[in-house]
Amino acid sequence: MKVAIFGAGTMGSGIAQVFAANGHTAMMYASSVASAQRHKDKLAASLNKKVARGKMTQEAADDLMSRVVVDEFEAAADADLVIECVAENMSVKKELLGRLDAICKESAIFASNTSSLSITEIGADLKHPMVGMHFFNPVPAMKLVEVIAGANTSSELVEKISNLSKEIGKTPVVVNEAPGFVVNKILIPYCNEGVCVLQEGVASAEDIDIAMQLGCNHPMGPLHLGDLIGWDIVLNIMDVLFNETHDSKYRANVLIRKMVRAGKLGMKTGEGIFNYNK
Ligand code: 3HC
Repeated sequence: MKVAIFGAGTMGSGIAQVFAANGHTAMMYASSVASAQRHKDKLAASLNKKVARGKMTQEAADDLMSRVVVDEFEAAADADLVIECVAENMSVKKELLGRLDAICKESAIFASNTSSLSITEIGADLKHPMVGMHFFNPVPAMKLVEVIAGANTSSELVEKISNLSKEIGKTPVVVNEAPGFVVNKILIPYCNEGVCVLQEGVASAEDIDIAMQLGCNHPMGPLHLGDLIGWDIVLNIMDVLFNETHDSKYRANVLIRKMVRAGKLGMKTGEGIFNYNK
């Protein structure tokens, strides 16, 4: 299958890696061909590190990378599946998918990796069928895919994407469209609450994370997890949950807003709640 992945950030690169590892052609798209090539090079470098650590053979890495393709926009016309992982902004997503709608073959499926936006609204003006295919960070390590049915998504398409998710080694859960779906509706307020506990001076950042790791067997605490997800994304999802429901339980902590304004987004910028530059 030929999969065109738009957006080559943490999620898009991870999705490309997983499809290519499972025998599919993964076309990587970013703001330009040169930028997509830089992301492809970064992916190759991360696989080389795995090879150096003895976690992957050179042959497997080369084989995987041979299926990661960078090309012009028009080459997406014969993709079987389009997955968009661009900015969490409705008009950005709609503009991109509108352009793809005009060139992609009729049988192509359109999927969105949105973390909380409405699949129904994203697909509203498209001829191609639309479904949510929500991966988790880090994509190669996380087993889940939320398969999200918008108001116009057929049960056949949900089944097709669920089967494809299994084929690439993931476990699908079928979710009816709702703000934040299942995971982010629960997980993102949990990260937000971690920041509230920190702000109230209940415990230090380190101890809040140790408490949740050792008290609940979570692989990482809420503050470290927010640093992994990115506080810009956490804030964006909190705002979607709040704006869609007007329920005050989804009010984002002001400290998160302040961190985002200061560019302290977490691991990707080197500093969030914790400092990764040391
Ligand atoms: N990118 C790619 N792969 C990564 C990675 C990264 N940033 N970090 C870890 N991995 C891979 C490793 O390569 C390793 O795979 P391998 O065995 O094939 O080499 C595997 O994950 C385990 O890694 P490690 O042994 O180094 O590290 P840990 O055992 O400490 O696990 C972790 C790291 C998987 C990140 C673990 O701490 C974890 O599960 N944390 C919780 C992550 C989580 O909750 N993610 C969901 C976020 S919400 C989301 O994504 C939704 C979005 O819409 C916001």
